Amino acid sequence: MSEELESVLNESRIFPPPAAFVDKARIAGWEALQALREEARADHQGFWARLAQEKLHWHTPFSVILDDSRAPHYAWFTDGRLNVSYNCLDRHLADKGGKTAIIFESDEGATRHISYAELHEAVCRFANALKAQGVEKGDRVVIYMPMIPEAVVAMQACARIGATHSVVFGGFSAQALKDRIEDAGAKLVITADAGHRGGKRVELKAAADQALAAGCPTVEKVIVYRRSGHDVPMQPGRDIWWDQALAGQGDDCPPEWLEAEHPLFLLYTSGSTGKPKGIQHASGGYLLNAVTTMEWVFDIQDDDVFWCTADVGWITGHSYVAYGPLAVGATQVIFEGTPTHPHGGRFWEICQNHGVTIFYTAPTAIRALMKLGDEIPERYDLSKLRLLGTVGEPINPEAWMWYYEVIGGRRCPIVDTWWQTETGAHMIAPLPGATPLKPGSCTLPLPGIEADVVDAEGNPVTEADKGGFLVIKKPWPSMLRTVWGDPQRYYDTYWKQFDGRYYVAGDSARRDQDGYFWIMGRVDDVLNVSGHRLGTMEIESALVAHPRVAEAAVVGRPHEVKGEAIVAFVVTRGGRPSGEAADALTAELREWVAKEIGPIAKPDEIRYAEGLPKTRSGKIMRRLLRAIARGEAITQDISTLENEEIIKQLQGEA
Ligand code: WTA
Repeated sequence: MSEELESVLNESRIFPPPAAFVDKARIAGWEALQALREEARADHQGFWARLAQEKLHWHTPFSVILDDSRAPHYAWFTDGRLNVSYNCLDRHLADKGGKTAIIFESDEGATRHISYAELHEAVCRFANALKAQGVEKGDRVVIYMPMIPEAVVAMQACARIGATHSVVFGGFSAQALKDRIEDAGAKLVITADAGHRGGKRVELKAAADQALAAGCPTVEKVIVYRRSGHDVPMQPGRDIWWDQALAGQGDDCPPEWLEAEHPLFLLYTSGSTGKPKGIQHASGGYLLNAVTTMEWVFDIQDDDVFWCTADVGWITGHSYVAYGPLAVGATQVIFEGTPTHPHGGRFWEICQNHGVTIFYTAPTAIRALMKLGDEIPERYDLSKLRLLGTVGEPINPEAWMWYYEVIGGRRCPIVDTWWQTETGAHMIAPLPGATPLKPGSCTLPLPGIEADVVDAEGNPVTEADKGGFLVIKKPWPSMLRTVWGDPQRYYDTYWKQFDGRYYVAGDSARRDQDGYFWIMGRVDDVLNVSGHRLGTMEIESALVAHPRVAEAAVVGRPHEVKGEAIVAFVVTRGGRPSGEAADALTAELREWVAKEIGPIAKPDEIRYAEGLPKTRSGKIMRRLLRAIARGEAITQDISTLENEEIIKQLQGEA
């Protein structure tokens, strides 16, 4: 990066941890947090070794902490053996067998409570069923399921027998499913007849059939959970119902004692090129950071009711639904549906009805719910909430304040957690009983995480508010181990830029005068306008700070004179403007951005629509927006779009 990133957003509010929270927090106060940081700085490996011994159950203790002989293919706790499912279930049975592990609410509103003892039994029986279908240690199993407890059962059962799972989000198309099954070389697929989301049926079995008909030669069996109950064709010899697979299976399934480095799962994530990468995680290190972050960042306590709204198809649903909460013996809510069905108060109703104390969701959901107005959350009793969290993108200060005031009643800290599929667990995040918060900042790296912002030569950016590349300078236990089947791509994507010295996150960031991290967006989302580098997210934050703007996405378009022109896609509050009203608003917003950031950041063009194109996980589809901004034909797969009709509006054709 030859020029510095322009960084001009100024957020000066600071929220210290509330005394009532600090009193009961696991890590109470700034000094306690500093002590952990110091311990890690003094002895990085010793720090993680101590936590690995204290927080996990090892069948065979490890003597090697970090093996860096094949760096940057790092390996942790290599001679230790453990089982992730044992750590999540068996070790709680003696004192927490009757405790509720999962409170499930279906799309239609039916609820089920599952205790640790019941979950353990379900996992053991299903693990035996997998073995009976020929699944062995090291085999890959693709899970293509609705957001129901059985998805977690399937993941835990794989972990129990040492099969490596790869969960494919239920909103992905048959084509995407096929690509992932083939890349993973899966032997077995677990799916359902259909899923239910927002009152609609998602035809999972039909998509799986289509994927398998088009290829996937390695797949021998398909296990089908009956969620919907409608007729689906079953292929004799290949397809078997979940209940049939379980028939005759006992609930005794001793865990496989696996090497700490055994591949727990693959999770495909899109990179800057088209083909998704199979991010491979290991067992021991991954689970360790799932546990440490549940304790540090979520301050999880025995009587908490934890709710992470992410689907198990994403990393957040792995670390903070399927593994982390269970590994610490917590009670958690799992919800099958969507935030606005059948009404815009669904999330808050669930919080109220199940007594949720810790709520973790994405800024995009917060903004969407904010748009509906304060009257909706005000109808519900949210007084049990004590901690709020966000993940996935920077949260704009306006949404942060709304979340803080209207949802958290000014009493709940907000943990803004920066991390990635690749990092396995939170990396930069506050500890709610220790870290003063600044709206829009993910604050400071966790103990043992050596995050920094560096320039193109890899030197730390020491000047406050100058942007650079976000890197991690030391290996950490839950780091990805490789890109499945493509170690070269692992090196090229994450390490090559600084010759293997630092893990390169692919995000740009700046640190303020207090050392707080502000994520500015993906490096490939950085615009170069007249020689000035501008983070697209900063322009977006400026736009959404305007009272008329509900949501905004900014992309670049090649421009003869300036290098890049700024195109903003905007969703307004109270109806989509057109004609003169649109022109007037455009003029106003351009001035607004000029005022918020500087004239250089003024959007050259603003297009209005009723929504933005998003993946089912809520990520704005920036590549698609770039194509639209450039007037190019859309060639990419838009089958996972939540809202296809808005494309025409953004193209100016509707
Ligand atoms: C972005 C999701 C700002 C970032 C866990 C990262 C964030 C990418 C934050 C990873 C945050 C995630 N603030 N940006 N708190 N959390 N991101 O792999 O660009 O789906 O690189 O993992 O999301 O997305 P992924």
